[in-house]
Amino acid sequence: MKRICCIGAGYVGGPTMAVLAKHCPEYRIEVVDTNSERIAAWKTDDLPIYEPGLLDIVKQVRGRNLFFYEDVEGHIDEADIIFVSVNTPTKTFGHGAGRAADVQFCEQTARMIAKCSTKPKIIVEKSTVPVRTAEAMEAILQANDKGVTFEIISSPEFLAEGTAIRDLEEPNRVLIGGRPTESGRRAIQEVLDIFAHWVPKERILTVDLWSSELAKLTANAFLAQRVSSVNAISALCERTGANITEVASAVGMDDRIGRKFLRASVGFGGSCFQKDILNLAYLCEYHGLPEVAAYWQQVVELNEWQKKRFVRTMLKALFNTLAGKRVAMLGFAFKPGTSDTRCSPAITIAKLLIDEHAELSITDPKALENARKDLPDARSCTFTPDPYEATRGAHAIALVTGWPEYSELDFERVFQDMEKPAFIFDGCDLLDHEALVKIGFHVFRVGAPPIVPS
Ligand code: NAD
Ligand code: UGA
Repeated sequence: MKRICCIGAGYVGGPTMAVLAKHCPEYRIEVVDTNSERIAAWKTDDLPIYEPGLLDIVKQVRGRNLFFYEDVEGHIDEADIIFVSVNTPTKTFGHGAGRAADVQFCEQTARMIAKCSTKPKIIVEKSTVPVRTAEAMEAILQANDKGVTFEIISSPEFLAEGTAIRDLEEPNRVLIGGRPTESGRRAIQEVLDIFAHWVPKERILTVDLWSSELAKLTANAFLAQRVSSVNAISALCERTGANITEVASAVGMDDRIGRKFLRASVGFGGSCFQKDILNLAYLCEYHGLPEVAAYWQQVVELNEWQKKRFVRTMLKALFNTLAGKRVAMLGFAFKPGTSDTRCSPAITIAKLLIDEHAELSITDPKALENARKDLPDARSCTFTPDPYEATRGAHAIALVTGWPEYSELDFERVFQDMEKPAFIFDGCDLLDHEALVKIGFHVFRVGAPPIVPS
């Protein structure tokens, strides 16, 4: 039985290895992590992350050919292939703080592999890393004094949270980058053979190492750029009476542009878009390309502005004071379908509302536990899973995560229980705005002028 070890049991490591285990029963797959709480949770039915369809797969393969361990070093040497899925957050200290990627966990992993290995291995970078990280990993790995050889492969992950299982089962593409040497080509083939168990061959793209690393950063930058582009135009729509939904559908019908990722919002969130663009901009600057850096940096600046703009619209509509007013926040996750709140626009919006002395009642079907941790000092916040309780007595509703269940709410009932005039700020273009106005709401939309009862 071939053995795979995956270092890092997070949003990428866990689901990726579960799907791999399902399709490759002849591989024994061991997922290891220094976070013992996480590993313990992977062994129960209360998994450490919420992802539709994940538990079903984990139940099928756990104990068959998928195993979780907190002893990281003990599982390295037996492995033929090691996937590295550790976190690569934005650096918070020293040179490049707030922009560069913190690659210390990748380096620690490489050192640990070098220390524990007595046999050759293929090391697969799954984490999103600055371009040429593989070079540093290689240098550390090859510096072992046991003569053990390693082949490094870059195979970045493109899954999105909330649709991780679908994305892994039917990926648009699997990217495999490696060295153009004989052993490099053999390693590429070995990794390709794993994915070929369920991914059609024409969707598996083999490239060189640096292109693979850079393609991942570029893909995230392009996706985030579309959101910032549509959000920029949303501001112009609000000023001119155009409607962003209509503009976006007209633009998206051009198949050179495409319909996806053109939904105006309160801004993009999630653990990766911002960190990866900041990292890309930093890399450009590092390589002496300040104009390119500034171009990408602006995608993040616009995103910050969009969140602030949303709160300024609320403040202005609510007669320039939010002090003592109750604001119900519908949603806190960075997007529907996940409990993840990392870099959620809801965090910035909540903090700005708290700065205005608003009293927040926050609701979310999955992310309340994380929301509490994100706002630890917020004495003026209450948290409830019940949207009717959250909106009771509120002066305004801020819808910041487009959970489909919010469009099913009984807004007649919500309206009855709110202070008047009752305001709704739909940051996700989710609700039936005409129907809300008929009920009596003052409706503010991202990307279209407000509509109020006549
Ligand atoms: P995560 O924080 O959820 O998980 C990373 C895990 O690695 C943590 O549990 C941490 O304890 C563990 N870890 C760190 N150093 C370790 C070490 N030396 N030994 C053992 N375990 C160690 O992160 P994630 O969301 O899974 O992201 C991982 C990487 O994948 C990042 O580079 C990210 O940019 C990229 N990525 C994430 C997503 C996503 O949707 N979250 C999608 C595509 C790519
Ligand atoms: C994103 C990418 O889609 C994945 O391909 C990538 O692997 C991943 O980042 C990563 O590297 O971590 P994710 O952050 O999970 O995935 O979620 P997305 O669906 O991309 O949404 C990101 C943010 O953009 C969310 O806040 C979402 O609400 C927002 N968004 C998305 C919009 O505001 N408008 C849109 O039209 C689309």
